[in-house]
Amino acid sequence: MGKVIAIDGPSGAGKGTVARMLARRLGFEYLDTGALYRAVALYLVQKGIGPDESDENILETLKSVSVDFKDGRVYLNGRDVSAEIRTKEAGHYSSVFSARKPVRDFLFPIQRKLGEGHNLVAEGRDMTTVVFPGAWEKIYLDASAKERARRRYEQMKDSPNPMTEADALEDVLKRDRRDSSREIAPLSKSPDAIYIDSTSLSPEEVVEKILKAIGD
Ligand code: DC
Repeated sequence: MGKVIAIDGPSGAGKGTVARMLARRLGFEYLDTGALYRAVALYLVQKGIGPDESDENILETLKSVSVDFKDGRVYLNGRDVSAEIRTKEAGHYSSVFSARKPVRDFLFPIQRKLGEGHNLVAEGRDMTTVVFPGAWEKIYLDASAKERARRRYEQMKDSPNPMTEADALEDVLKRDRRDSSREIAPLSKSPDAIYIDSTSLSPEEVVEKILKAIGD
């Protein structure tokens, strides 16, 4: 395992943009673990698996899936699904299925393996607490719910399925509740993570703050 910079935080805090920029600045690989959860959720939905399915059936269904992440793209059984996973529906189901133990158990070794053999910036819900607890540097990136909703709205504005700002806020609050209250790997700040509030910062400013904090 090379050096890992693990970035945690709620949906819409800017983890993706910041992690990508930071990786480029440092010459590290970049891993978006949310994309892996979204790809798995897409697969489960395609296979007719619903939120109330038993763990056994989810486990069985996952036996026929492979998920990979390379050069910023996510692959489901070898097919690039990077665009498909960005819909509102995929976001919803990824939040639902990421609370299920067979899904987390399935993705754990895949994430660890993607961290082998190079330096890595890894972003996602449980990076600092579960997947890379021994990370070289840990960051918890936060922003107010209102600002995160605004960013989501801006992101979806020109997509085939745009949402209103009110919808975006409701979505963010609902996701926060589900991601924080779940039993397995809930959203939480690791005590040794550096806390950064990005509410009034640009991605560039956040990256500068991180570089300063890690002494680069
Ligand atoms: O960061 P995102 O919105 O692409 O993540 C999609 C969902 O997956 C989100 O509801 C949280 C979940 N997730 C997770 O539980 N653990 C991770 N390491 C990454 C994402």
